[in-house]
Amino acid sequence: MLFILQADYIFLLNDLLMSIRKEKFGQLKNGETVYQFILKNKNGLMAKVISYGGTLTELWTPDRKGKRINIVLGYQKLENYLKHSPYFGATVGRYANRIAKGRFKLSGKTYRLATNNSPNHLHGGPRGLALQNWQTEIIKTSEGAALALTCFSPDGAEGFPGNLTTTVTYCLTDKNELKIKYHAVTDQTTVVNFTHHSYFNLSGKESVLDHLLAIKSDRITSTDKTLIPTGNYLHVHNTPFDFRKLAPLGARIFEPHLQLKNAGGYDHNWVLSGWNNRLRSVAVLYDSESGRKIKVATTEPGLQIYTGNFLAGTPTEKKGVKLKNYQAVCLETQHFPDSPNQSHFPSTVLEAGEEFRSETVYGFEVG
Ligand code: BGC
Repeated sequence: MLFILQADYIFLLNDLLMSIRKEKFGQLKNGETVYQFILKNKNGLMAKVISYGGTLTELWTPDRKGKRINIVLGYQKLENYLKHSPYFGATVGRYANRIAKGRFKLSGKTYRLATNNSPNHLHGGPRGLALQNWQTEIIKTSEGAALALTCFSPDGAEGFPGNLTTTVTYCLTDKNELKIKYHAVTDQTTVVNFTHHSYFNLSGKESVLDHLLAIKSDRITSTDKTLIPTGNYLHVHNTPFDFRKLAPLGARIFEPHLQLKNAGGYDHNWVLSGWNNRLRSVAVLYDSESGRKIKVATTEPGLQIYTGNFLAGTPTEKKGVKLKNYQAVCLETQHFPDSPNQSHFPSTVLEAGEEFRSETVYGFEVG
């Protein structure tokens, strides 16, 4: 009896320390409710996720002195996500990043997608998964409570073949990690590529150009003017793309390198070393002043670093205050852009009956 009581007590205590709370966030025009989930771990880290777009809206982490700030860009109001958000915190799919001219061939058939980033397809299209209201469920995992969000995308949605069911799971572990797992199944051969699109700013200042970045990679996929891979790799040695050792994002971002000119800063896919489909550590982002650090681990072969080169003018919820370029940086784990048209890139094809799985972990530390 005593043991049972004790066990109950520990369980309750654990629930108090690590918790997920559900509340209403807003309502869509079609009457659907958008829910918000507040995830807390035992160390007081807090994340908020909404069902619309499977979007991380807030993430509060401490600095060296224990002062917590929200380190991701986002909104408090649903209407701002609907009107202004450049994929803030979103779960992006069916295909994250670009597909050249919105066209690709699969099993001998040509598919045409929306070209919402003229002349290319971007982030799953104007009605992609980032703009859908996902089904939600709080589940138990070996690491504690997690939030599972599921989205059904019918055959032909945005031009993609196959009925696709995608589930993304967020878990804020007691080791101060945000673990994101993706699972997808289709009933027809299709292509998939998912990413998490948080815009990180570890200092709360107006620029992240003094943040330090390191990536385990010695190549990027070079791109043309429209940010589509040319098919060639560029070795980072002696270029502004060399982040093999910690270097400030801003140190070389304005150098007259053609690749930087095409993108207005960093908006490139780094080819991650040692890809073997297993979870491994691939990158670190660090703000030396506050001590906040993010360690990125993933099962994916690529990492898009996007320094918010097109953020200027994006409204915030403070009256009259707009965002500036380079105010945040996205660390988007992914398969390479335009893989459906580049047969030498790791494949993004998902066959009927196959299960797609991937995982990305953002670990938060102070250093
Ligand atoms: C892309 C950028 C784009 C941004 C917002 C990033 O993933 O690489 O080119 O502007 O998303 O859509």
